[in-house]
Amino acid sequence: MSGKIKIGLWGIGRSGWLGHLAEIDRFPEFFEVVAGCDLIKERSDKLVERYPGAKGYTDYKEFLADENIDLVSVATYSSEHVKHAEMVLEAGKYLFLEKPIGVNYAEALKLKELEAKYPNKIFIRHNRRFEAAFNHLLEIMDSGILGEIYEVKLCRHRFQLRNDWQTIKACNGGQLNNWGPHLIDHAIILMQSPIKEIWSDLKNTVTLGDAEDHLKVIFRGENGRVIDLEISDCVRIASPVYTVYGSRGSLVSYNEKEFEISYLEPSESLPPKGAKSESPAWTSGYGGEIKLNYINKTIPVAPSNGAKMTDIYGRLYKAIKGIEKFPITLEQALEIVRVSDLIRSQN
Ligand SMILES: NC(=O)c1ccc[n+]([C@@H]2O[C@H](COP(=O)([O-])OP(=O)(O)OC[C@H]3O[C@@H](n4cnc5c(N)ncnc54)[C@H](O)[C@@H]3O)[C@@H](O)[C@H]2O)c1
Repeated sequence: MSGKIKIGLWGIGRSGWLGHLAEIDRFPEFFEVVAGCDLIKERSDKLVERYPGAKGYTDYKEFLADENIDLVSVATYSSEHVKHAEMVLEAGKYLFLEKPIGVNYAEALKLKELEAKYPNKIFIRHNRRFEAAFNHLLEIMDSGILGEIYEVKLCRHRFQLRNDWQTIKACNGGQLNNWGPHLIDHAIILMQSPIKEIWSDLKNTVTLGDAEDHLKVIFRGENGRVIDLEISDCVRIASPVYTVYGSRGSLVSYNEKEFEISYLEPSESLPPKGAKSESPAWTSGYGGEIKLNYINKTIPVAPSNGAKMTDIYGRLYKAIKGIEKFPITLEQALEIVRVSDLIRSQN
Protein backbone atom coordinates (compact mmCIF):
# COMPACT_ATOMS: atom_id res chain seq x y z
CA MET A 1 0.00 0.00 0.00
CA SER A 2 1.54 3.30 -1.00
CA GLY A 3 0.67 6.81 0.16
CA LYS A 4 -1.75 7.70 2.90
CA ILE A 5 -3.64 5.00 4.75
CA LYS A 6 -7.37 5.30 4.17
CA ILE A 7 -9.31 4.86 7.37
CA GLY A 8 -12.88 3.82 8.05
CA LEU A 9 -14.04 4.42 11.63
CA TRP A 10 -16.53 1.87 12.98
CA GLY A 11 -18.32 3.37 15.99
CA ILE A 12 -18.44 7.17 16.15
CA GLY A 13 -19.16 7.57 19.85
CA ARG A 14 -17.05 9.19 22.56
CA SER A 15 -13.95 7.14 21.80
CA GLY A 16 -14.42 7.31 18.03
CA TRP A 17 -15.24 11.02 17.77
CA LEU A 18 -13.17 12.46 20.60
CA GLY A 19 -10.32 9.95 20.75
CA HIS A 20 -9.61 8.34 17.37
CA LEU A 21 -10.46 11.25 15.11
CA ALA A 22 -8.49 13.76 17.21
CA GLU A 23 -5.49 11.42 17.14
CA ILE A 24 -5.81 10.78 13.40
CA ASP A 25 -6.00 14.55 12.83
CA ARG A 26 -2.51 14.84 14.36
CA PHE A 27 -1.13 12.94 11.36
CA PRO A 28 -2.72 14.39 8.20
CA GLU A 29 0.35 13.34 6.21
CA PHE A 30 -0.23 9.69 7.14
CA PHE A 31 -4.00 9.18 7.09
CA GLU A 32 -7.16 10.09 5.27
CA VAL A 33 -10.53 9.45 6.90
CA VAL A 34 -12.58 8.06 4.02
CA ALA A 35 -15.56 6.55 5.84
CA GLY A 36 -17.39 6.20 9.11
CA CYS A 37 -20.10 3.82 10.26
CA ASP A 38 -22.46 4.21 13.19
CA LEU A 39 -25.91 2.88 13.97
CA ILE A 40 -26.84 6.49 14.75
CA LYS A 41 -27.16 8.33 11.44
CA GLU A 42 -26.45 11.81 12.87
CA ARG A 43 -23.03 10.52 13.93
CA SER A 44 -22.02 9.25 10.49
CA ASP A 45 -23.45 12.48 9.00
CA LYS A 46 -21.27 14.50 11.38
CA LEU A 47 -18.22 12.53 10.30
CA VAL A 48 -18.93 13.36 6.66
CA GLU A 49 -19.29 17.02 7.63
CA ARG A 50 -15.94 16.86 9.41
CA TYR A 51 -14.21 15.06 6.52
CA PRO A 52 -15.82 16.24 3.28
CA GLY A 53 -15.49 13.51 0.67
CA ALA A 54 -15.77 10.73 3.28
CA LYS A 55 -18.70 8.32 3.11
CA GLY A 56 -21.13 7.84 6.00
CA TYR A 57 -22.72 4.46 6.67
CA THR A 58 -25.26 3.07 9.10
CA ASP A 59 -25.11 -0.41 7.57
CA TYR A 60 -21.86 -2.12 8.52
CA LYS A 61 -22.08 -4.56 5.58
CA GLU A 62 -22.01 -1.70 3.11
CA PHE A 63 -19.25 -0.03 5.14
CA LEU A 64 -17.07 -3.15 5.14
CA ALA A 65 -17.63 -3.62 1.42
CA ASP A 66 -16.22 -0.12 0.70
CA GLU A 67 -13.09 -0.88 -1.33
CA ASN A 68 -11.62 2.51 -0.63
CA ILE A 69 -10.98 1.61 3.04
CA ASP A 70 -7.54 0.17 3.91
CA LEU A 71 -7.87 0.11 7.67
CA VAL A 72 -10.87 -0.08 9.99
CA SER A 73 -10.65 1.35 13.49
CA VAL A 74 -13.16 -0.48 15.67
CA ALA A 75 -14.55 1.69 18.47
CA THR A 76 -17.91 -0.02 18.94
CA TYR A 77 -19.23 -1.58 22.16
CA SER A 78 -16.75 -3.79 24.04
CA SER A 79 -18.93 -6.89 23.74
CA GLU A 80 -18.72 -6.75 19.93
CA HIS A 81 -14.99 -6.18 19.49
CA VAL A 82 -14.04 -9.78 18.63
CA LYS A 83 -16.99 -10.22 16.26
CA HIS A 84 -16.27 -6.93 14.53
CA ALA A 85 -12.54 -7.70 14.38
CA GLU A 86 -13.26 -10.89 12.48
CA MET A 87 -15.56 -9.10 10.02
CA VAL A 88 -12.94 -6.42 9.34
CA LEU A 89 -10.25 -8.99 8.62
CA GLU A 90 -12.57 -11.09 6.47
CA ALA A 91 -13.27 -7.93 4.47
CA GLY A 92 -9.54 -7.73 3.73
CA LYS A 93 -8.78 -4.64 5.80
CA TYR A 94 -6.18 -3.84 8.41
CA LEU A 95 -7.70 -3.82 11.90
CA PHE A 96 -7.11 -1.31 14.68
CA LEU A 97 -9.00 -2.68 17.66
CA GLU A 98 -10.08 -0.80 20.78
CA LYS A 99 -9.58 -2.13 24.25
CA PRO A 100 -10.84 -4.35 25.78
CA ILE A 101 -9.89 -6.60 22.88
CA GLY A 102 -12.39 -9.13 24.24
CA VAL A 103 -14.67 -9.31 27.24
CA ASN A 104 -13.23 -12.65 28.36
CA TYR A 105 -10.13 -14.68 27.60
CA ALA A 106 -11.95 -17.49 25.78
CA GLU A 107 -13.39 -15.12 23.19
CA ALA A 108 -10.21 -13.04 22.94
CA LEU A 109 -8.25 -16.17 21.97
CA LYS A 110 -10.19 -16.06 18.69
CA LEU A 111 -7.94 -13.12 17.81
CA LYS A 112 -4.93 -15.42 18.03
CA GLU A 113 -6.52 -17.67 15.39
CA LEU A 114 -7.27 -14.61 13.32
CA GLU A 115 -3.70 -13.40 13.60
CA ALA A 116 -2.48 -16.73 12.23
CA LYS A 117 -4.94 -16.44 9.35
CA TYR A 118 -4.31 -12.74 8.69
CA PRO A 119 -0.69 -12.08 9.73
CA ASN A 120 0.47 -8.48 10.34
CA LYS A 121 -3.06 -7.14 10.02
CA ILE A 122 -4.09 -6.78 13.68
CA PHE A 123 -3.15 -3.76 15.80
CA ILE A 124 -4.36 -3.02 19.30
CA ARG A 125 -5.22 0.39 20.72
CA HIS A 126 -3.62 0.41 24.15
CA ASN A 127 -3.03 4.12 23.68
CA ARG A 128 -2.14 4.78 27.32
CA ARG A 129 1.09 2.84 26.73
CA PHE A 130 2.31 6.17 25.29
CA GLU A 131 1.34 8.35 28.26
CA ALA A 132 4.20 10.76 28.93
CA ALA A 133 4.24 10.26 32.72
CA PHE A 134 4.21 6.47 32.39
CA ASN A 135 7.18 6.58 30.00
CA HIS A 136 9.10 9.05 32.15
CA LEU A 137 8.40 6.99 35.27
CA LEU A 138 9.95 3.90 33.65
CA GLU A 139 13.03 5.96 32.81
CA ILE A 140 13.38 7.19 36.38
CA MET A 141 12.97 3.67 37.74
CA ASP A 142 15.59 2.36 35.30
CA SER A 143 18.02 5.19 36.13
CA GLY A 144 18.55 3.62 39.57
CA ILE A 145 18.22 6.85 41.60
CA LEU A 146 15.37 5.34 43.63
CA GLY A 147 17.42 2.18 44.31
CA GLU A 148 15.66 -1.18 44.44
CA ILE A 149 11.98 -0.52 43.65
CA TYR A 150 9.81 -2.56 46.00
CA GLU A 151 6.38 -1.00 45.56
CA VAL A 152 4.48 1.03 42.95
CA LYS A 153 0.99 2.42 43.42
CA LEU A 154 -1.18 3.30 40.44
CA CYS A 155 -4.36 5.25 41.13
CA ARG A 156 -6.99 6.72 38.90
CA HIS A 157 -9.44 8.24 41.33
CA ARG A 158 -12.54 10.19 40.47
CA PHE A 159 -15.93 10.78 41.96
CA GLN A 160 -18.55 10.50 39.28
CA LEU A 161 -22.11 9.29 39.01
CA ARG A 162 -22.00 7.50 35.67
CA ASN A 163 -25.13 5.98 34.23
CA ASP A 164 -24.09 4.89 30.73
CA TRP A 165 -23.63 1.35 29.34
CA GLN A 166 -20.10 1.28 30.73
CA THR A 167 -21.68 0.87 34.19
CA ILE A 168 -23.93 -2.10 33.27
CA LYS A 169 -22.73 -5.68 33.74
CA ALA A 170 -24.94 -7.05 30.96
CA CYS A 171 -23.21 -4.63 28.54
CA ASN A 172 -19.77 -5.78 29.78
CA GLY A 173 -19.29 -2.41 31.42
CA GLY A 174 -17.41 -1.84 34.67
CA GLN A 175 -13.99 -0.40 35.38
CA LEU A 176 -12.20 -3.71 34.87
CA ASN A 177 -13.07 -3.56 31.15
CA ASN A 178 -12.98 0.22 31.00
CA TRP A 179 -9.79 1.59 32.60
CA GLY A 180 -8.60 -1.89 33.61
CA PRO A 181 -6.84 -2.82 30.32
CA HIS A 182 -4.75 0.38 30.39
CA LEU A 183 -3.61 0.05 33.98
CA ILE A 184 -3.15 -3.72 33.96
CA ASP A 185 -0.90 -3.11 30.94
CA HIS A 186 1.05 -0.53 32.99
CA ALA A 187 1.22 -2.84 36.02
CA ILE A 188 2.60 -5.75 33.98
CA ILE A 189 5.30 -3.51 32.48
CA LEU A 190 6.18 -1.78 35.75
CA MET A 191 6.58 -5.15 37.48
CA GLN A 192 9.66 -5.86 35.32
CA SER A 193 9.27 -9.55 36.22
CA PRO A 194 6.64 -12.26 35.81
CA ILE A 195 3.60 -11.91 38.10
CA LYS A 196 3.45 -14.45 40.90
CA GLU A 197 0.26 -13.55 42.77
CA ILE A 198 -2.83 -11.40 42.34
CA TRP A 199 -5.34 -10.29 44.98
CA SER A 200 -8.31 -8.18 44.02
CA ASP A 201 -11.52 -6.57 45.21
CA LEU A 202 -14.27 -5.19 42.95
CA LYS A 203 -17.03 -3.02 44.35
CA ASN A 204 -20.12 -1.30 43.07
CA THR A 205 -20.41 1.96 45.01
CA VAL A 206 -22.02 5.14 43.65
CA THR A 207 -22.36 4.39 39.98
CA LEU A 208 -25.96 4.09 38.81
CA GLY A 209 -25.37 0.80 37.01
CA ASP A 210 -24.62 -2.59 38.58
CA ALA A 211 -21.02 -3.08 37.41
CA GLU A 212 -17.88 -2.43 39.48
CA ASP A 213 -16.86 1.21 39.79
CA HIS A 214 -14.19 0.71 42.45
CA LEU A 215 -11.44 -1.76 41.75
CA LYS A 216 -8.37 -2.67 43.76
CA VAL A 217 -5.76 -5.15 42.55
CA ILE A 218 -2.51 -6.06 44.26
CA PHE A 219 0.09 -7.83 42.15
CA ARG A 220 3.22 -9.44 43.56
CA GLY A 221 6.01 -10.24 41.15
CA GLU A 222 8.57 -13.00 41.20
CA ASN A 223 11.05 -10.19 41.95
CA GLY A 224 9.11 -9.41 45.17
CA ARG A 225 7.81 -6.08 43.87
CA VAL A 226 4.24 -5.12 44.76
CA ILE A 227 2.04 -3.13 42.40
CA ASP A 228 -1.02 -1.70 44.06
CA LEU A 229 -3.62 -0.57 41.53
CA GLU A 230 -6.82 1.37 42.20
CA ILE A 231 -9.38 2.59 39.71
CA SER A 232 -12.34 4.28 41.28
CA ASP A 233 -15.36 6.43 40.54
CA CYS A 234 -15.91 6.88 44.28
CA VAL A 235 -12.96 8.74 45.76
CA ARG A 236 -13.42 12.44 46.53
CA ILE A 237 -9.82 13.10 47.63
CA ALA A 238 -7.62 11.52 44.99
CA SER A 239 -4.35 9.78 45.84
CA PRO A 240 -1.36 10.42 43.57
CA VAL A 241 -1.62 8.88 40.12
CA TYR A 242 1.86 7.42 40.69
CA THR A 243 3.72 6.56 43.89
CA VAL A 244 6.99 4.66 43.82
CA TYR A 245 8.95 3.37 46.81
CA GLY A 246 12.57 2.39 46.38
CA SER A 247 15.44 1.57 48.74
CA ARG A 248 17.12 4.93 47.97
CA GLY A 249 14.12 7.20 47.48
CA SER A 250 10.52 7.68 46.55
CA LEU A 251 8.44 9.56 44.03
CA VAL A 252 4.89 10.80 43.63
CA SER A 253 2.93 12.43 40.85
CA TYR A 254 -0.52 13.79 41.55
CA ASN A 255 -1.23 15.26 38.16
CA GLU A 256 1.06 13.50 35.62
CA LYS A 257 2.57 16.92 34.87
CA GLU A 258 5.35 16.77 37.46
CA PHE A 259 7.08 14.31 39.75
CA GLU A 260 8.09 15.06 43.33
CA ILE A 261 11.17 13.01 44.08
CA SER A 262 13.22 12.56 47.23
CA TYR A 263 16.28 10.35 46.98
CA LEU A 264 19.63 9.65 48.49
CA GLU A 265 22.57 11.57 46.96
CA PRO A 266 24.02 9.16 44.38
CA SER A 267 27.45 9.42 46.12
CA GLU A 268 25.94 8.26 49.43
CA SER A 269 25.93 4.56 50.34
CA LEU A 270 23.43 2.93 52.61
CA PRO A 271 25.28 1.47 55.63
CA PRO A 272 25.87 -2.29 55.55
CA LYS A 273 23.32 -4.49 57.32
CA GLY A 274 24.06 -5.06 61.00
CA ALA A 275 21.84 -3.96 63.91
CA LYS A 276 22.79 -3.93 67.62
CA SER A 277 20.77 -6.07 70.00
CA GLU A 278 21.51 -4.10 73.24
CA SER A 279 19.29 -1.22 74.44
CA PRO A 280 20.49 2.11 72.99
CA ALA A 281 21.01 5.33 75.03
CA TRP A 282 17.82 7.19 76.00
CA THR A 283 18.90 10.05 73.82
CA SER A 284 19.57 7.95 70.73
CA GLY A 285 16.03 8.31 69.36
CA TYR A 286 14.50 5.92 66.92
CA GLY A 287 16.55 5.65 63.81
CA GLY A 288 17.92 9.19 63.65
CA GLU A 289 21.54 8.26 64.38
CA ILE A 290 22.58 7.70 60.80
CA LYS A 291 22.48 10.96 58.82
CA LEU A 292 22.60 10.84 55.02
CA ASN A 293 22.13 13.51 52.37
CA TYR A 294 19.02 13.50 50.24
CA ILE A 295 18.01 15.40 47.13
CA ASN A 296 14.44 16.73 47.06
CA LYS A 297 13.15 18.09 43.81
CA THR A 298 10.16 18.54 41.56
CA ILE A 299 10.71 17.79 37.90
CA PRO A 300 8.37 18.30 34.96
CA VAL A 301 7.11 15.22 33.17
CA ALA A 302 9.19 15.09 29.98
CA PRO A 303 10.22 11.59 28.91
CA SER A 304 13.40 11.52 26.81
CA ASN A 305 11.60 9.39 24.19
CA GLY A 306 9.09 12.28 23.79
CA ALA A 307 6.10 9.92 24.23
CA LYS A 308 2.60 11.40 24.21
CA MET A 309 -0.66 9.52 24.65
CA THR A 310 -1.86 10.71 21.28
CA ASP A 311 1.13 9.15 19.47
CA ILE A 312 -0.53 5.86 18.70
CA TYR A 313 -1.74 6.54 15.16
CA GLY A 314 1.76 7.71 14.20
CA ARG A 315 3.14 4.40 15.49
CA LEU A 316 0.38 2.52 13.68
CA TYR A 317 1.28 4.15 10.36
CA LYS A 318 4.97 3.29 10.76
CA ALA A 319 4.10 -0.31 11.64
CA ILE A 320 1.82 -0.82 8.63
CA LYS A 321 4.42 0.74 6.35
CA GLY A 322 7.11 -1.55 7.79
CA ILE A 323 9.15 1.39 9.15
CA GLU A 324 9.13 0.18 12.77
CA LYS A 325 7.55 -2.54 14.85
CA PHE A 326 4.29 -1.79 16.60
CA PRO A 327 5.14 -1.81 20.30
CA ILE A 328 1.87 -3.41 21.49
CA THR A 329 1.67 -7.11 20.69
CA LEU A 330 -1.44 -9.26 20.57
CA GLU A 331 0.24 -11.54 23.14
CA GLN A 332 0.48 -8.64 25.58
CA ALA A 333 -3.13 -7.64 24.99
CA LEU A 334 -4.25 -11.27 25.49
CA GLU A 335 -2.36 -11.45 28.76
CA ILE A 336 -4.30 -8.41 29.99
CA VAL A 337 -7.58 -10.17 29.23
CA ARG A 338 -6.33 -13.35 30.95
CA VAL A 339 -5.44 -11.33 34.08
CA SER A 340 -8.83 -9.55 33.91
CA ASP A 341 -10.59 -12.94 33.84
CA LEU A 342 -8.59 -14.05 36.87
CA ILE A 343 -9.57 -10.88 38.75
CA ARG A 344 -13.21 -11.42 37.81
CA SER A 345 -13.08 -15.01 39.03
CA GLN A 346 -11.81 -13.81 42.45
CA ASN A 347 -14.86 -11.59 42.98
N1 LIG B 1 -8.65 3.54 24.39
C1 LIG B 1 -9.31 4.46 25.05
O1 LIG B 1 -8.73 5.39 25.60
C2 LIG B 1 -10.81 4.40 25.10
C3 LIG B 1 -11.54 5.49 25.60
C4 LIG B 1 -12.93 5.38 25.63
C5 LIG B 1 -13.56 4.22 25.19
N2 LIG B 1 -12.80 3.19 24.72
C6 LIG B 1 -13.45 1.96 24.23
O2 LIG B 1 -14.16 2.30 23.04
C7 LIG B 1 -15.36 1.54 22.95
C8 LIG B 1 -16.54 2.49 22.75
O3 LIG B 1 -16.68 3.26 23.92
P1 LIG B 1 -17.39 4.69 23.86
O4 LIG B 1 -17.22 5.29 25.18
O5 LIG B 1 -16.95 5.42 22.66
O6 LIG B 1 -18.91 4.23 23.66
P2 LIG B 1 -20.06 5.08 22.98
O7 LIG B 1 -21.34 4.49 23.40
O8 LIG B 1 -19.84 6.53 23.26
O9 LIG B 1 -19.81 4.84 21.42
C9 LIG B 1 -20.03 3.61 20.78
C10 LIG B 1 -20.53 3.93 19.39
O10 LIG B 1 -20.55 2.73 18.62
C11 LIG B 1 -21.76 2.71 17.87
N3 LIG B 1 -22.03 1.33 17.52
C12 LIG B 1 -22.21 0.30 18.36
N4 LIG B 1 -22.40 -0.85 17.68
C13 LIG B 1 -22.35 -0.53 16.37
C14 LIG B 1 -22.48 -1.27 15.16
N5 LIG B 1 -22.71 -2.57 15.16
N6 LIG B 1 -22.35 -0.61 14.00
C15 LIG B 1 -22.13 0.72 13.98
N7 LIG B 1 -22.00 1.47 15.09
C16 LIG B 1 -22.10 0.86 16.28
C17 LIG B 1 -22.77 3.35 18.80
O11 LIG B 1 -23.90 3.81 18.12
C18 LIG B 1 -21.95 4.48 19.40
O12 LIG B 1 -22.00 5.65 18.63
C19 LIG B 1 -15.45 0.73 24.24
O13 LIG B 1 -15.08 -0.59 23.97
C20 LIG B 1 -14.47 1.38 25.18
O14 LIG B 1 -13.85 0.45 26.05
C21 LIG B 1 -11.46 3.27 24.66
